[in-house]
Formats: sequence, C-alpha cells, structure tokens
Amino acid sequence: MVSLYDHLCRYDTAAWQRAVDEVAAESHPIDRNATRIWFAFYPLDFFLTFQAAPDPASAVRVMGLMGRWLLADQVDTSHRFFYAHRYWPSIKAAVQRFSTPPPDDLAALIGEVAEQASRTARVDREGLIGLSAAALMTLRQAGVDAFAAPGQIHLSMRARAMSPHQVMKKRAHDDWQGVFGFTRGLRKRWTITFDENEPDAHFELINGQEIATAAKSDPREYRTTDPRCTVGEGPIPVECRSASCGTCWVGVLGGAEKLSPVVDRDEGRRMKVFGYIDTDEPRPLIRLACQTQAFGAVSIVIPPWNGIFATWVQRHRAQQAPA
Ligand code: FES
Repeated sequence: MVSLYDHLCRYDTAAWQRAVDEVAAESHPIDRNATRIWFAFYPLDFFLTFQAAPDPASAVRVMGLMGRWLLADQVDTSHRFFYAHRYWPSIKAAVQRFSTPPPDDLAALIGEVAEQASRTARVDREGLIGLSAAALMTLRQAGVDAFAAPGQIHLSMRARAMSPHQVMKKRAHDDWQGVFGFTRGLRKRWTITFDENEPDAHFELINGQEIATAAKSDPREYRTTDPRCTVGEGPIPVECRSASCGTCWVGVLGGAEKLSPVVDRDEGRRMKVFGYIDTDEPRPLIRLACQTQAFGAVSIVIPPWNGIFATWVQRHRAQQAPA
C-alpha cells in the first residue's frame, strides 16, 4: 500500500478532477452525484494547504474551520452517503491489496480497483467506480496507517436491504399533495431528507421556503452528534443566515432541479470565497441551505465541517508554483 500511496501523491487536483469526470460516464447513476459531492467536501487543495500550515491551530483559526475536516478521522464513514458504502470492506481491501504496478492513468487505476472489488463483493463494477475513486483519495489524504484497518459498514440492516432502484425511485418521488394539490400553491409541503440511510432523517418544507429555515421545524436535538448545530435550529448548522459564514453548506443528492437557481452576487460569489465550489452552474450540487429555496422533495447531505479557505488555498498554490 505504501507504493500505491506514493504513486497517488503524484497527482494534483486537476488530475483527480479529470479522472473523476472520466470515470463518471461509466459509473452507475446511483452514486454519480455522491461522487461529485464527496470530492467537493474533501478537496485535495484544502488538505494540502492545511497539511503545509506551520501552525495547525493558527490555520484552524484563520480559515474558521469547524467540525471534522480530516479524512484520517473518518476513513470508514466520510462516504456513508454513497449507495456503494455497503461494499466498502471490499473496496477498501482492493486498495489495501493493490499489488501490481499502478497504471499512470488515474482513471484506469480507479477502474482497476473497482474491478477487483467487484469480484469479492459480487456486484457490477459500475456500481463501485465512484466509491473506488473516493477510496483512493481517502488513502491519499488519510495516509497508509489510518487506512490500514479492515473496512467497516455503518448502515442499518434496513438501509442495507434497499436496492439501487428503490433508492433512486425515492429520490425522484415528490410528496402527494392531495387530489386538488394543484390548487394548494404556497401551501404545498415537501419532504427534505438529510440522511438517506436513517428512516427519520427528514423534515418538512413549505413550498418556496429556504432549506435552512425549514430545518428549524425539526425540534430534535442534534448537538450531541454535530456540535456545530444550535438547539432549536434543526440538523443543519447555521450562523448568519445571510451567505456570510459558510456554515450551512450542503450537497444535493437528488432533486437539484427543484431548487431555486444560485443568485450570483450572494450565494454564487460567497461559495467561491468559502472555497466550496467554483462553478457557474445555475443549480450546482453544493448549495448554501440558508439561501436555497425548494419547490419539491429533495435529498441532501450535510458535510461534517465548514470553513472559509479559498484565499489560503490560492496562496498555498502560488507558493508551490515553479518560479
Ligand atoms: S448560515 Fe451562514 S452562510 Fe448560511
């Protein structure tokens, strides 16, 4: 595994991005969004910037980091929202046992890991490609020692029993509004799911409401599982509610097309400042929950950390660039 780790250290962010885009075409649709979301949640450039910081405590302060941002602390759980998480022990073992000289082409390497894992998991390779890419990046960031233990699955038996078809059908489903639903207008109610693996992980949203505002209707206590959460604010950590702090970023697994478009001067500009995503897509897979209105049922993922790091990453990149 040491030589594979050394091999992975040769690739920069752009190479990873190209490889992930390339393998997306051959991967099963169930985890296509999950793969893009995961790579946005754990960017290599951010990791390298944090790793190079001479004083980690000061880096935490200046980048406003909160929560768990290191993959070394969550090797078996960071990707729990992938459908393929149920095959994680096979994928992790395929990475650990990878013995042939790795191909130079990173996309081909991801494909080989998926191929080897598919033999032990006895499932199609297409369903394992996205998580195989995430597994290799996890080894790259977490290091050999943190990656060495056998893979653990963190799913209930009920979640494990769901087929890809059932999960995709559930994601595409909109709540029934009654026979005269078309007359309900603003009174329509939608379900926002924030963890597809937990049966109770959802709250109700009134048509056109911002996701973070709707989350307040969930009276349960989330501070024990995520200390960033505030009592009475629901499962999504929030602070400013005005696109200033970056606390409320979420990934959109299903239903991105039912969300309001990004407003460039607010959400779009700020997400680039935070470092979360740099795109001009009107409805990207990473959103600020305090700015995003929903007009249908949506499935989201809440990342376990937040920060404001784009400036520091750019500075680090400039320092690394050849003179
Ligand atoms: S709560 Fe601060 S950006 Fe959304």
